[in-house]
Amino acid sequence: MKDTATAPLMHVAGLRVHFTLRKWGFLRAGTVRAVDGVSFDLARGEAVAIVGESGCGKSTLARTMLGLNRPSDGDILFNGASLGASSGADMQRYRAEIGFVQQDPYGALPPFMTVEQLLAEPLRIHGVRDAAERRRRAEAALEEVRLTPAGDILGKFPHMLSGGQQQRVVIARALILEPAFIIADEPVSMLDASVRVEILRLLKRIQAERGLTLVFITHDLSTVRHYADRIFVMYAGRFVETAHVEELLDAPQHPYTRALLAALADPDAANADTLREVPAGEPPSLVNPPTGCRFHPRCPQAMAGLCDAEDPPEFAPRPGHMSACWLHRDAPEAG
Ligand SMILES: Nc1ncnc2c1ncn2[C@@H]1O[C@H](COP(=O)(O)OP(=O)(O)O)[C@@H](O)[C@H]1O
Ligand code: SF4
Ligand SMILES: [Mg+2]
Repeated sequence: MKDTATAPLMHVAGLRVHFTLRKWGFLRAGTVRAVDGVSFDLARGEAVAIVGESGCGKSTLARTMLGLNRPSDGDILFNGASLGASSGADMQRYRAEIGFVQQDPYGALPPFMTVEQLLAEPLRIHGVRDAAERRRRAEAALEEVRLTPAGDILGKFPHMLSGGQQQRVVIARALILEPAFIIADEPVSMLDASVRVEILRLLKRIQAERGLTLVFITHDLSTVRHYADRIFVMYAGRFVETAHVEELLDAPQHPYTRALLAALADPDAANADTLREVPAGEPPSLVNPPTGCRFHPRCPQAMAGLCDAEDPPEFAPRPGHMSACWLHRDAPEAG
């Protein structure tokens, strides 16, 4: 496949990532089906939010897109090249093309390095030999994430910065090699509510200015309108609903998405820090996921004899809108 402007930046087909658990004390051996049959394309320059409760496989998917987990089945094509078929050197180059922003900024920043060292290190590893040039680029990166005066920040250690400032340093570091693609895994969930929207707006501004492709992983549907073009809703290792952001928020189709949105509208849930308690019940174990639709034990609309027996295919109840639910069984299958 050729690298053309119209080809997707990333094509993911039938991706499965399973972990084998060994027997340990009372714990039984088994297979964790963390990602279990996910397919999608990412266009160049688009921002996608992957939304789902804790434990549904979001981070495993992110790590596999970064080349840190190997697929158990299926493949990921980046610019038309298969990650599965890549050599070690190809993978190293590939990782340099993707910026990663993880959940815990403090954990991402080695505590004994100054901000200048933290920002200069990737440049040095990737062959920028001139120290003045590294410093100039470190300062420019801090200005881009609005950490100023950059000259004062460069000499600081991570613990001297607030959580929001630390996450800005993590973002600056993710951008310093000028990647075309950023994956941010719950980048604001450990920050104070007061700085979350600022950081989301910052990421959106940089994404738009640089024309970056952004994958943003979150459990929080309430803020996706700030930055996402499309939403992928994930449940128990699968995508259950995908659509453009306005379409998905204004006309949610899948009972799981509807439950997440209803929880946001509930004033008690709106004060809660996570969506873990809602919708009622817990996401299933990914060692023995339920038969049929994985959401059926929690679904208020489950149909006995169908939902508990057969896996729903991906339907397109509205144009460009995929929902994997038997309620849409008269709609065409998603293409
Ligand atoms: N390295 C691993 N070994 C075994 N199980 C794992 C590993 N990484 C993740 N898991 C399991 O995979 C499931 C999905 O986890 P994760 O991808 O972190 O979900 P999320 O990011 O949505 O919370 C969980 O059950 C988790 O315990
Ligand atoms: S397939 Fe059935 S159980 Fe699953 S979400 Fe749809 S109605 Fe609910
Ligand atoms: Mg996670």
